[in-house]
Amino acid sequence: MALWLWIFSLVIGSLTLENGLFRTPPMGWLAWERFRCNIDCKNDPTNCISSEELFLDMADRLVADGWRELGYVYVNIDDCWMAARRDEQGRVTPDTARFPGGIKALADYMHSRGLKLGIYSDLGDKTCAGYPGTPLNKVELDALTFSEWGIDMVKLDGCHSTAREQYDGYSRMSRALMATGRPIAFSCSWPAYRGGLPPKVDYDLLGSICNMWRNFDDITDSWNSVLKIIDWYSIHQEVLQPIAGPGHWNDPDMLVIGNFGLSLEQARTQMALWAILAAPLLMSNDLRTISMEEREILQNRLIIQINQDRLGIQGRRVLKEQSKIEVFVRPLEWSSYAIVFFNRRVGRPFLYNCTLSRLNIRKAKLYQATDVYAGHLIRGLSTNTVFTIAIDPSGVVMWHLTPYYY
Ligand code: GLA
Repeated sequence: MALWLWIFSLVIGSLTLENGLFRTPPMGWLAWERFRCNIDCKNDPTNCISSEELFLDMADRLVADGWRELGYVYVNIDDCWMAARRDEQGRVTPDTARFPGGIKALADYMHSRGLKLGIYSDLGDKTCAGYPGTPLNKVELDALTFSEWGIDMVKLDGCHSTAREQYDGYSRMSRALMATGRPIAFSCSWPAYRGGLPPKVDYDLLGSICNMWRNFDDITDSWNSVLKIIDWYSIHQEVLQPIAGPGHWNDPDMLVIGNFGLSLEQARTQMALWAILAAPLLMSNDLRTISMEEREILQNRLIIQINQDRLGIQGRRVLKEQSKIEVFVRPLEWSSYAIVFFNRRVGRPFLYNCTLSRLNIRKAKLYQATDVYAGHLIRGLSTNTVFTIAIDPSGVVMWHLTPYYY
């Protein structure tokens, strides 16, 4: 785009985010949780953040192992990709030892394979890991640089910036990305730096400038961390549930399935609840070594269909039983629902009794459910039918419930 046109559109650009992106939650892979800021490619070549060894490998796996066809198309670089200093023109540049081909070549590689490339910056002088960030006076230049490289998504973190700078900077980056003319999705970490809740966070404004936002703490590879996140989103669902929808999503952070901290039951729970929450499905794991069982969880077509439901309504926790069973419901297209029965007990599988009417599901006379993980069908559920299910400790039973008209 000509420079004058770009400056003109910056000036007249409105505050509404009309980029048409993320009508359903994005899916793909993100480096951070699994690979962190490991830049020691000399001693740890397979686990370091190097374009050749990591991002290209992940792209190849996404294509070869069926991920791309299921919708996992983003390959997202996180912190630590930059050179220690900006160049003479003030432009941010990659560390050339680790990204010898440059970021544009990486984006071209992704695009030629039907994938997309995401990148990371941070509003402030430095990123969270201490690399060059995007201070206010570099917002437009960085947006332009990213668009020239062919970037498809930008995550803008919030370390090293004040509340005032964040207030200005996130809107400004949103406008600058729009003004490049390239469709670039915008992931904002802003709420996570302001406690995640109103009045410190203005979710109306967020919805008009960002496609998704981190509201809460970083996920780590542990069951405690997953539980903490599930609880925070449940406790604050009155605030958080209504603000999500097509084009703008709450982000409870990455899927850590396939790493070291979750049992298979716990992995099924994370996947089920991220689908209920209409959350971005950005895996942070090693697709070169992931087990078949974990792959099956992440590639479950029905869960992906639920996550990607076009109504884009975030689900809620509707029951919190004394027995430590929690039930989550998400309304879906065609008068269907996703239901997750989550067992927080320890010990042995728990037999849980419930009815659809207790979950406020009463519209149709009869329903049938597909057990999303086990695959079998449960027929003849009227709203008052008492059903009994066995739920494993720290695990879930997930249903896809549809009205039955015959
Ligand atoms: C913050 C973010 C993380 C990750 C790191 C990188 O902690 O919340 O997701 O991007 O910074 O330094």
